[in-house]
Amino acid sequence: MLHHQPLHEVWPLMKSVLVVCLGNICRSPMAEGAVRKALEGAGFSDITVDSAGTSGWHEGGSPDPRAVKAALMRNIDIAHQRARQITGDDFHRFGLILAMDGQNYARLQAMQPQVSPANVRMFMEFAGEIPVREVPDPFEGREEDFDHALDLIELAAKGLADHMAAASG
Ligand code: 4NP
Repeated sequence: MLHHQPLHEVWPLMKSVLVVCLGNICRSPMAEGAVRKALEGAGFSDITVDSAGTSGWHEGGSPDPRAVKAALMRNIDIAHQRARQITGDDFHRFGLILAMDGQNYARLQAMQPQVSPANVRMFMEFAGEIPVREVPDPFEGREEDFDHALDLIELAAKGLADHMAAASG
């Protein structure tokens, strides 16, 4: 199910990316910031980047302070972000919807409307050949777990930017 389409067919005309985790306070806020930074670094200025959670547990809340700190150490400011739960409408608004782990990928697949332009993939698919397919949930972990998650996230964000640069010729 994870490889229904080759990566070169992934980038659609809709220039928008939504990264998704469970709570939208740890991984996907860091990913939103990292993807935005990587895309800006690659010269893209016209791509919408957002994040959401498959749960609404932290609706309206700020990112976890450990995520804010880990990101800031890498010059990524995510303090302004606010958590929200993904909606059916997101499948019409975003070209790419990227899940942080298999559980959230399955939830996204289950809720995707039959006819919608969104391409739902695993975020770590863009990280290249490293044998990691998920960003582990650092919520119950320590500060270094946020750092490790961000290592993986930055790798995939860079890969995504490279992919988009190649796809847009
Ligand atoms: P996230 O981490 O999905 O990376 O935002 C979590 C945040 C909160 C919870 C679980 C995971 N929670 O159980 O509240």
